[in-house]
Amino acid sequence: MRIETFEMERMQCLYENEVEYNLSESGVYPLSMEELLEGEELRSVLSVPLGYPYSNGSPALRERIARFYPGASPEHVTVMNGGSEVNHVVLWTLLEPGDRLAFMVPNYMQGWGLGRHFGAGSDAFRSRLGEDGSGRRWALDVDELRRAVTERTKAILVTNPNNPTGAVLTGEEMAGVIEAAGRVGAWIIADEIYRGAEVDGETTPTFWGRYDKLVVTSGLSKAFGLPGLRLGWAVAPPALIEQLWIHHDYTTLTPSTLSERLASVVMEPARREDVLARTRGIIRRNLPILEEWAAGHGDLLDYVRPAAGAIAFLGYDLPIESPALVERIRLEQSVLLVPGEQFGMGWQLRIGFGSDPDHLRKGLERVSETLRQAG
Ligand SMILES: Cc1ncc(COP(=O)(O)O)c(C=O)c1O
Repeated sequence: MRIETFEMERMQCLYENEVEYNLSESGVYPLSMEELLEGEELRSVLSVPLGYPYSNGSPALRERIARFYPGASPEHVTVMNGGSEVNHVVLWTLLEPGDRLAFMVPNYMQGWGLGRHFGAGSDAFRSRLGEDGSGRRWALDVDELRRAVTERTKAILVTNPNNPTGAVLTGEEMAGVIEAAGRVGAWIIADEIYRGAEVDGETTPTFWGRYDKLVVTSGLSKAFGLPGLRLGWAVAPPALIEQLWIHHDYTTLTPSTLSERLASVVMEPARREDVLARTRGIIRRNLPILEEWAAGHGDLLDYVRPAAGAIAFLGYDLPIESPALVERIRLEQSVLLVPGEQFGMGWQLRIGFGSDPDHLRKGLERVSETLRQAG
């Protein structure tokens, strides 16, 4: 069976290294090995024998990852190559032909395509922009979620904090997801790869520990600023961890030895908090640049403050669909953004603001040029 092209990943791969200003990234400016390691620690990494590591992650790494999830222990954790491999293996493991995946939209669309590939299809439920006591925010349409979840639903996939909106689910919305899953005995897949990258306030509460048929997928690529390590993990009940491992033996076998080792350094609790603090520092420093820029466009742009992640999802009032607008900006200005269509929602643009501030400012100035001309 053929699988459809994952449009966003293909577009980024084609152009992110070609443009002068890449504002399509969803993470922050990445850390280097030099920033991460010093003295003895660096020397010890340089002398690691490059053999095969534990295929499910070393006990030390799994123990450290488990500590990020209250109540979890190493037998709840397995390690793979990036959050995307984890999502792939989880959906491959859970979905049988005939099963349906209920899928939060807008979202990172990997799960959408895999639900159609491994199962009988994906059913959308949306977050919508609305007004509540705390101002304008992306709110989960819990009624639509209830309608999307049927007896055929094997799993519900939510991304929290969300890509592309940067919204974080409220306690009530989380309860709504759990209630919908519990009604039909579905799994919840909570992609929490942006957890820890909050703009202000507390670390996003994890779904872990709130429901029994639950798998958290995550990794070092976003909140930790280390996408090049390609290090991801699943946290799930031990019986599912065993099933994921069986499937992982047919994909990449093991994580990379060096990444596994560096991940152990990063996930040591005190270091983990330092790395997350760096990410939040970048986000807090850069967000005002984006906000000032968006405000300068008046009613042309509809900006809502993200709660987490170095991404904002802006509406715009121009007579041009988002893929065409993004292409125009790329060709005219050598700046790459991501069109809303690639997250399942048109007439929006995702702007990544995690880069160097000067790079961000200059890239945004160029975007303004095309927005003016397209108006
Ligand atoms: C929600 C979400 N999950 C997973 C991934 C993939 O992560 P990785 O680079 O670790 O494979 C992304 C990448 O953008 C993402 O946004």
